[in-house]
Formats: sequence, structure tokens, C-alpha cells
Amino acid sequence: MVILATNCKHLPFPGPEVVPVDTTTTKVPVDTTHHVVVKDPCSPDSAYFQKDIWPIIASNCAKAGCHDANTAQNGISYTGYNSVVAKVKPGNPGGSKLYSVITGVDDRMPPASQTQLTSAQIALIYKWIKQGAKNNTCTDTTCNANNFKFANDILPLLKMYCQGCHNGSATGGNVSLLTYSDISVQAANGKLYNDVNHTTGYNFMPLGSPKLSNCQISQIKNWIDAGYPNN
Ligand code: HEC
Repeated sequence: MVILATNCKHLPFPGPEVVPVDTTTTKVPVDTTHHVVVKDPCSPDSAYFQKDIWPIIASNCAKAGCHDANTAQNGISYTGYNSVVAKVKPGNPGGSKLYSVITGVDDRMPPASQTQLTSAQIALIYKWIKQGAKNNTCTDTTCNANNFKFANDILPLLKMYCQGCHNGSATGGNVSLLTYSDISVQAANGKLYNDVNHTTGYNFMPLGSPKLSNCQISQIKNWIDAGYPNN
């Protein structure tokens, strides 16, 4: 995978294991964890469209029956950065339609029948708009594949990237990933790992969003290999 050099600010590196390299040849090696070669490490002070915002929109808004290209409720479809930024005034969350609907100032989105955005997701969107609503990304250097506790690591991942669709409704193929017992079914049948790993012959998840990072996929694999404990 080639790391896109869309945002070439030199952010402070959080750890010594990061090796800056020429971006034209940058590759993320398969299944390395905290020794991944990166260009722009994620700053906790920033929100990133590709890593943070698009997964929220894809999972909660751009899904079938709502604002995907086929359904386009109220004429709105989200297909990527341009369609999202069209509903935003960069630097001005309060003046942005996207922010006013998710905070219920205008219509309430997602509708009450759907999983609601968490306050952390709303805060990320606020931050991203405030910081100029750029089409930016970064590589997470804090993820550690050796951390794979269900409550601390696995569930937050699924909450962020999967539960907007997988709440048991048609938007996630009637598959729920809300509770431990729901998730353990998909861990046991091999689909959870193979879907996020993009194994040939499986459905590629998260649907419509970039693949999870190698480290995140390793966290899921390590948890499954350990017998997917409810820990
Ligand atoms: C935008 C909506 C959407 C998002 C986001 C999404 N999925 Fe799915 N997922 C679906 C749909 C639709 C299906 C049903 C696919 C089918 O049956 O053809 C599905 C099916 C699945 C299945 C059932 C087994 C299978 O492959 O048929 C698993 C497991 C799964 N997804 C895991 C995940 C995980 C893990 C994530 C997050 C990393 C995720 N999905 C994110 C829409 C989504």
C-alpha cells in the first residue's frame, strides 16, 4: 500500500520506532505493528478525514437505504470527500449543515431509529471542520497489535468502523456486531477476520471505507486466535 503524501506537515513523532522515508517508495509492510514505516504519524490534536471522518460517514450515513449513491435520501449521497465537504463550511462547525444535523440543531441525523453518533464521533467531526475540513490522513503509530482486550481494543474498533451498519438492521445485511455474543458468532465462523483482512472470496469490510490498518487487523486476529475472550 502506498502512503499518500497529502499532508506533509512535519508533526512531532511520538516514538523512536518511526523512520521517515521518501514517500514515493513508502510501503506499509504486511503485519508489522509498531515498526511500521510511516510518513505522517497521527497527532492526537488533529482529526483526519480518511482515518476518522469518512469511516463515521460511511458507516452511519452513506449506507443502503440512507445516503448511499443508490438511495440518496433528500437528494443527498455521500460517496467520498467532495460530497461530504460540500455540506461543510471549513473552519466553522456551527455554520455547517453537516454539524447542525448531527447535533440535532436542524433535522436530527442519524434518525432516531438508527444508532446515534457517540459524543466522541461528534467531537471528531467538530474538530475536523474547525481545522479546515481537509482531505487529510495519517498513519496511527500508537496502535499496538499486542493490545487486544475485547473491551479496550476490539469493541471500540467495531464501534468506530462497523456498528453504524451492523446494528442488526438491513444496512448491515442483518448482521449485528453490537454485543459480545453477536461478535463472537462472527469470530467463530471466520468471517470477522477474513472480511477485515480482505481475504479473497469474502465480503470486504468495512464496506465502502478504506481497509483497517495492518495493526488493527492484527489486533482482531490475535484476539480471535486467543479464543476471542470477553475480557
Ligand atoms: C456501510 C455499511 C457497512 C459497514 C461500515 C460495515 N459493514 Fe459489514 N456488512 C455490510 C453488509 C451490507 C453486509 C452483508 C453483505 C452480504 O451479505 O452481501 C455485511 C456483512 C458483514 C459480515 C457477515 C458475514 C459476511 O461477510 O457476509 C461481517 C462479519 C461483517 N460485515 C463485518 C464487518 C466489520 C468487522 C466491519 C467494520 C470493520 C463492517 N462489517 C463494516 C455492511 C457494512
